[in-house]
Amino acid sequence: MSTYDVLVIGSGLAGLSAALRLAADRKVALVTKRELLEGASAYAQGGIAAVLDSADSLENHIRDTHVAGGGLCRDEAVRFVVGRGAQAIQWLVDQGVPFTREAKGGEGLHLHREGGHSHRRIVHAADATGNAVQRTLVEQARAHPNIDLLEWHLAIDLITGRKVGLEDDRCLGAYVLDLVDGRVRTLSARATVLASGGTGKVYLYTTNPDTATGDGIAMGWRAGCPVANMEFIQFHPTCLYHPHAKSFLISEAVRGEGGLLLLPGGERFMPRHDERGELAPRDVVARAIDFEMKKRGLDCVYLDIAHKGEAFVREHFPNIHRKCLEFGIDIAKEPIPVVPAAHYTCGGLQVDLAGRTPVPGLYALGEVACTGLHGANRLASNSLLECVVFSEAAAADILAAAPVEIPALPQWDESRVTDADEEVVIAHNWDELRRSMWSYVGIVRTNKRLERALHRIQLLQAEIHEFYSTFRVSNDLIELRNLVVTAELIVRSALARKESRGLHFSSDWPATLAEARDTVLDPRSPAP
Ligand code: FAD
Ligand code: SIN
Repeated sequence: MSTYDVLVIGSGLAGLSAALRLAADRKVALVTKRELLEGASAYAQGGIAAVLDSADSLENHIRDTHVAGGGLCRDEAVRFVVGRGAQAIQWLVDQGVPFTREAKGGEGLHLHREGGHSHRRIVHAADATGNAVQRTLVEQARAHPNIDLLEWHLAIDLITGRKVGLEDDRCLGAYVLDLVDGRVRTLSARATVLASGGTGKVYLYTTNPDTATGDGIAMGWRAGCPVANMEFIQFHPTCLYHPHAKSFLISEAVRGEGGLLLLPGGERFMPRHDERGELAPRDVVARAIDFEMKKRGLDCVYLDIAHKGEAFVREHFPNIHRKCLEFGIDIAKEPIPVVPAAHYTCGGLQVDLAGRTPVPGLYALGEVACTGLHGANRLASNSLLECVVFSEAAAADILAAAPVEIPALPQWDESRVTDADEEVVIAHNWDELRRSMWSYVGIVRTNKRLERALHRIQLLQAEIHEFYSTFRVSNDLIELRNLVVTAELIVRSALARKESRGLHFSSDWPATLAEARDTVLDPRSPAP
């Protein structure tokens, strides 16, 4: 057993910024299941929203967040995050993030515009913002003497007092599988921070990296944390449609900078769906594309930025231009084939303004958490901001907490399991789960399809549980066990919402109710 002051699970923007802020005063273990750079944060393209322009105001950003959020955002959380935007950007600049400047060598940061934003307020590093941010923070973390970096370490489950027979139900650390030597380590800590990202991989088509398997949501749920608003899965409207492109995103900033959505014949369709056209919030644009594709039997629609000219395209979107060229598409000359894909988990473990879950000693930050900021639909580029703001708040809370004694913890028990004899079953179940979610729990939902999905998920759950109890743990088995939990939480939350709001659209309940309410599921209460 190794004991730390703080155990951070995940090396995305939430995990790295929490670890860096804590390491000044505490010994931190940061575990991450792949290399440090792997995770949604490094894939982020568009940027980070913050009010920096004198023509803009905090009230504008707050209003835009509420409008996108379909009336469900928690005002306290919106004001908390938006009000700390400039400070969060300054912290990143101080760490050395090379954001794009207004003029070469100049002081001011260049701001992009994105859908749902009434003003230019997206701070970016060309069109590969996440990569620039993550490389900078990874370098800082590697150099820090107080941070032990454990790459290729997969957290299996949290250790709570209750699980080890204590009265006090605080979180005491986690069991972590070393993916290199196959051993399970016991990491104990005075505070544990879940920063393990979202669960996009529960859908067949997603913009998310392979790491997004909802591990933190499932671990938190098993440890007794309620989840909120899991039905609100954001589908990004424009993922590249190409047989060899594995989930490559075409940034919202392309529409923000003038990109137009077209049918195969070249006709624009967004003005028929919303007066804001291509700059409507994502839920509206994704639904409009889904509608046009289904009505006309299309495989994709097209996004055209070529009319802005080659110089503009190369300057603003060098990464997207280069990547599409690899697939034979020159976006400076021709429209880009695009389809919607699962992109962001708006719900998650319910936390307060310090990122605290109800389990003492356990925090949840970033996409794994539901802070109330995003409501029924996240405003573009608000999530990286949320990661930085909440990691600061949680670090301050952890640093201010009184020290606690950590008891000796039992080792991981493998005495009753054997090696799996049929790995193919795991692969098959992964596929079945992701296909069912795509077909039955997608952009437009019905009660019947949701019930069909729930039935299949419950059958899969029984099979996976049996596997987990019988066989030695492996990466794929652990991730599948977590995915199936998050799938059930998404479907149960969707069934509980008897209305359409934001990202949740049900043909059976098309109206929006007058009162906006969170969907909260509590693992300690029986399923409704
Ligand atoms: P992540 O960055 O996903 O990090 C999670 C980490 O946890 C990873 O290191 C992962 O390996 C690790 N992990 C997971 N499970 C375990 C486990 N069991 N054990 C150990 N480690 C584990 N948002 C914006 O605001 N602006 C954008 O421009 C933007 N663009 C995006 C583009 C794409 C293609 C995608 C997919 C998302 C984009 N988003 C954007 C959303 C944003 O990137 C994410 O919401 C945000 O990065 C989440 O950060 P995080 O730290 O919570 O999680
Ligand atoms: C994008 O660049 O379109 C992604 C922005 C986001 O998800 O916030």
